[in-house]
Amino acid sequence: MILLTGGTGYIGSHIAVELLQAGHDVAILDNFSNSDETVIERIESITEREVILYRGDVRDTLLLTSIFQSHDIESVIHCAGLKAVGESVKDPLAYYDVNVYGSVTLCYAMQQAGVKQLLFSSSATIYGVNAQPPYTETMARGESSSPYGTSKGMVEKLLEDLSDSDPQWSIAVLRYFNPIGAHPSGLIGELPQGTPNNLMPYISQVAAGLLPELLIYGNDYPTKDGTCVRDYLHVTDLAVGHRMAVAALKKPGVNYFNLGTGSGISVNEMVEAFVSATGMNVPYRFAPRREGDLGAFWACSKKAERELEWRAEKTLEDMMVDTWRWQQFSTKTKRSH
Ligand code: NAD
Ligand code: UD1
Repeated sequence: MILLTGGTGYIGSHIAVELLQAGHDVAILDNFSNSDETVIERIESITEREVILYRGDVRDTLLLTSIFQSHDIESVIHCAGLKAVGESVKDPLAYYDVNVYGSVTLCYAMQQAGVKQLLFSSSATIYGVNAQPPYTETMARGESSSPYGTSKGMVEKLLEDLSDSDPQWSIAVLRYFNPIGAHPSGLIGELPQGTPNNLMPYISQVAAGLLPELLIYGNDYPTKDGTCVRDYLHVTDLAVGHRMAVAALKKPGVNYFNLGTGSGISVNEMVEAFVSATGMNVPYRFAPRREGDLGAFWACSKKAERELEWRAEKTLEDMMVDTWRWQQFSTKTKRSH
């Protein structure tokens, strides 16, 4: 059985579906701070399989101990965490508490239980503000621009120290680029609380009429069309990457993998792709650069291709169509509640 922390969140729910469909048994631990219980029903409806759910906190040692005692857990995928960059600047203690202390608590409980296979959700943000794309795993962690980014780098470092102290640990650190899209069923996806900060949910909420217009932050970057460039990948491809990484979790030590497509897309191209895939209107205007934004970054994704036999397969059109299907479902269900 695999223990999946944060398994009802955006990425975790897609990982749960992927693992269940591949025949794994899955136990989810989530405190629903950024999700809700109906996600479980939707995961079960897509997969026609049962999920074991623990409603609780990853910082709760007693709960973790009892989960490890109750099930034969082979490996843990640790997605639970806080992820809003701006919020982390305003409330750094919460980010170090949940992201760092939460990871320490989980690793302690794993150590006690003799479970030493771990996948950790990290981020491209650890390459820092001065790194030059494409980012490769051999690059050092760079200067962080936020407590969120620092918390991810701290956990990476503590996992290295842990594995140095005990070679039985087998750890994969997965550095996500920009996951977007939703499950093709339209039943699970990203549901930002309040006004979204990230581009994709902002575009789809403008298209749905929930927001008046998109502000494109900066058109004077040294990029192909002046707007920022990112490596957007479909969340179901990301989930497949986790399944492949779990299967490869046999080597001792910490292994780092970028999960991205290996190519960059500009904000303008994102808007055009959405409009062309969905036929919807997305009014936008250019605004000043957003503080803390990097002009362009994308992954070198060759290591994951070579060692995990994983590559992102879905097209930009798939990402747009699936985002829009999910936006329509979530707008409808929110209205009916
Ligand atoms: P999310 O907020 O949708 O999911 C996180 C889940 O963890 C939520 O269901 C939340 O309720 C749960 N959670 C939070 N604190 C918890 C706690 N203390 N105990 C138990 N559960 C807790 O976020 P996501 O987009 O699915 O991200 C998952 C992971 O991937 C996070 O660690 C995030 O930092 C990382 N990540 C995300 C992105 C992205 O673009 N979404 C990019 C890079 C890395
Ligand atoms: C942000 C986070 C990063 C996280 C990633 C994925 C920051 C500084 N970084 O990165 O740590 O891993 O999300 O969750 O917040 N944009 C607009 N208008 C909008 C929203 C975004 O033009 O309304 C632009 C941004 O300027 C950026 C691009 O779209 O150039 C992508 O933005 P976003 O989705 O927030 O992702 P990142 O900035 O890459």
